Amino acid sequence: MFIYKAGVVGAGAMGAGIAQVISFSGLPVVLKDTDQERVDKGIGMIRKVYQGRVDKGKMTASEMDQKMKLVMGTTSYDDFKDCDLVIEAVFENMKVKHQVFQELEKVLPETAIMASNTSALSISQIASAVKKSDKVIGIHFFNPAPVMKLVEVIPGLQTSTETVDDAVAFVESLRKMPVRVKECAGFLVNRLLLPYLNEAAYAFQEGSAPADEIDKAMRAFGMPMGPFALLDMLGLDVCADVSMILYDSFGPRMKAAEILGEMHKNNRLGVKNGIGFYVYDESKTGDLKPTVDAIQAKTGIKGTPFSPERLVFQMINEAAFCLEENVASPSDIDLAMLAGTGYPQDKGGPLHTADAIGIDVVVEKLKEFSKQLGPRFWPAPILKRMVSANYLGQKTKRGFFNY
Ligand code: 3HC
Repeated sequence: MFIYKAGVVGAGAMGAGIAQVISFSGLPVVLKDTDQERVDKGIGMIRKVYQGRVDKGKMTASEMDQKMKLVMGTTSYDDFKDCDLVIEAVFENMKVKHQVFQELEKVLPETAIMASNTSALSISQIASAVKKSDKVIGIHFFNPAPVMKLVEVIPGLQTSTETVDDAVAFVESLRKMPVRVKECAGFLVNRLLLPYLNEAAYAFQEGSAPADEIDKAMRAFGMPMGPFALLDMLGLDVCADVSMILYDSFGPRMKAAEILGEMHKNNRLGVKNGIGFYVYDESKTGDLKPTVDAIQAKTGIKGTPFSPERLVFQMINEAAFCLEENVASPSDIDLAMLAGTGYPQDKGGPLHTADAIGIDVVVEKLKEFSKQLGPRFWPAPILKRMVSANYLGQKTKRGFFNY
């Protein structure tokens, strides 16, 4: 099926970013939100991305005008009536998502694909609200959508093979990299990234190191930005939503660090409202020390040691759980982390990192972290099986990959 026109519901940072990507590929796109102010804000964000390209000489002003003409803002579902594919990018509330999909089904052509950009909610549950559930699929972009190459394609239980193939072809036509992911909470990348971010938050609240030092250490490891800068960019509200979904599905090993909930409660949402772990708007102030002290008094945990491994091993362990559950192949897991989070290219992805360290060393270190920091580090069963079969990584020439 060829997509001649697409739509996006929700003109926030992700929705606008996705609409920019679609228009950039040369396809007309309808961008909808509930009121004109939000629509205008979204269109303003798209214009800013194009203007950046013009300023850098990557595009002429007239090319920018051509691209902007492909974007139509609206507050009405009726404008989706000739769209072949619509991506929903509203906030993470199942009730709201159900309403959106029911509205879409009323106006869209029978053959149209209804996609969700949800970060972690169940695609099958979203699809359960509509009749044409075989046309519902997850098409999950990464922030900032204009830059990040990866797009996860997640079929729900009801999704037809044809819909999956069409979604993959559509993502390729946007010059992005599609990775098919088996449905699970957080899908693939968020399921690995959130425990990493969460571990940074535990280290911070336990006084292991200040946020800027942790960020610096992770940049030195090779990540494009530190975990706190990333939490602030994603939004502490978004991260709280995703954390809750992960905890609900995977239990205690995904329990969010208390500081994340406190940040959300105290409206320190990050870049979007001028203050998160860092301050972006000089009119906003607020020392996090009293909050950290209160958390330490409540948990009785402070002064734990910080090391970059503490964060990276969370990612590696969750990657191993994902592999065991066939969420994706080893090479897709690594590729997704490179293209979706900027995981350092020279390290090849978390599973290649594990192979380089040695799976036996990874297991021993996870056991040590488990004793020292908590059972959230309990090694994934597959890691122990690999050690028992001498799949130790590069040193025995076989691990997650063959050498
Ligand atoms: N919108 C559009 N373009 C942007 C942008 C934005 N918000 N931010 C940066 N860019 C562009 C810049 O204009 C620049 O373009 P150029 O190459 O044409 O000059 C390019 O990206 C590089 O930007 P910078 O030089 O300013 O800075 P960096 O090299 O540090 O890159 C970054 C910025 C791309 C954000 C990089 O730091 C990065 O990859 N960070 C990791 C982001 C990440 O992990 N994203 C995934 C989060 S998880 C998620 O989104 C899932 C959700 O469900 C929660």
